[in-house]
Amino acid sequence: MEDELLIYGSYGYTGALVARNAVNEGLSPTLAGRDAERVEEQAMELGCDHRVFSLAHPEVVEKHVEDASAVLNCAGPFSNTADPLISACLRAGTDYLDINGEIDALETVAERDRDAEQADVSLLPSMGFDTVPTDCLAGHLERRLPSATRLVLAIDGLGTFSPGTVKSIIEGLARPGAVRADGEIRTVPAAWKTRRVDFGRGAKTAVTIPWGDVSTGYYTTGIPNIEVYATVPEYAVTAMRRTRVLSPLFGAKPVQRAAKRVADAVVSGPTAEQRAQSVTRIWGRVENDDGRHVSARLRTPDTYELTAQTAVEAARRTLAGEVEPGFQTPASAFGPDFVLDFEGVEREDVEEKTTVTS
Ligand SMILES: NC(=O)c1ccc[n+]([C@@H]2O[C@H](COP(=O)([O-])OP(=O)(O)OC[C@H]3O[C@@H](n4cnc5c(N)ncnc54)[C@H](OP(=O)(O)O)[C@@H]3O)[C@@H](O)[C@H]2O)c1
Repeated sequence: MEDELLIYGSYGYTGALVARNAVNEGLSPTLAGRDAERVEEQAMELGCDHRVFSLAHPEVVEKHVEDASAVLNCAGPFSNTADPLISACLRAGTDYLDINGEIDALETVAERDRDAEQADVSLLPSMGFDTVPTDCLAGHLERRLPSATRLVLAIDGLGTFSPGTVKSIIEGLARPGAVRADGEIRTVPAAWKTRRVDFGRGAKTAVTIPWGDVSTGYYTTGIPNIEVYATVPEYAVTAMRRTRVLSPLFGAKPVQRAAKRVADAVVSGPTAEQRAQSVTRIWGRVENDDGRHVSARLRTPDTYELTAQTAVEAARRTLAGEVEPGFQTPASAFGPDFVLDFEGVEREDVEEKTTVTS
């Protein structure tokens, strides 16, 4: 029998939220991952079918994904998991979605656009908080100023992190920051630029971060210059700049392994109560070469709650045949207003001043 939706990495912190939400939304996902005990226990609890397989052997992965109409990958870091699952999906003719926010891994997916079109397969990475709201805001701003050549996004309130997010950040520590300049992804130092941004309650300090929109924003809007910022306390700006010299150290495999073991042991992710109270604010602005600019703000519920909702809704629409084959961003697949379909999300167009201080 054909599995409608296969959720891979379903028992991780975010995968579990996604799997539960899929069941609540009336889907019958097959749960999957490489740890038999954890998948079986979760499948029993949610009343779902399950499959146990690692991503080590391409023929095994293909055998499992060919029975599904779509795979939703929640197993990150995606630098390790996206490629084997996408390769199997392309061979099997299965649509692929994930919650990837890693710039390099997103660029690797974008490179498979032609292969996906030829295989009649849709590839939808970044269907979580990173990058659904920011990508939709970028699409909305570009729609208001189609001549825009510069996109700036900023995020306030990223809050408490899950173990997987911390591990992705640990991998990221080995790499510098990134922006897009003249259409190309350019590496820049961590916390390269600082900016004062008004998210609606007074200006806050934000620094450049290597967020997924540096990749996806270009494919959604065609805008060749993209910077993404996040708010941090002033002391953290100093700390981030000091750790630039430590970047090569973080790249060493033993250091990475040790840091990830610590993350697994001490990070449990935000509790349901913390998620319920958490709010995230996003600000975006596009400018054209004549100096015209437009800005807008978005308010969203907790990042993990929103991820569970957007990923499942993206999967539901993909299963319903609403998505074109090839590589898709959230806004290219579902339009810039997609994010407004979720409870607690509000958007407003604004006029405001910001200052770049370095
Ligand atoms: N886009 C977004 O907004 C968004 C939101 C939330 C999370 N994320 C990302 O999603 C990822 C997962 O986060 P999380 O909080 O759920 O992490 P987590 O609790 O550590 O769970 C990670 C899951 O991925 C699996 N996994 C990791 N590497 C694997 C590999 N090489 N092969 C097979 N399975 C593998 C793990 O299985 P094992 O236990 O067997 O290793 C586990 O099921 C992270 O990369 C995080 O940054 C993105």
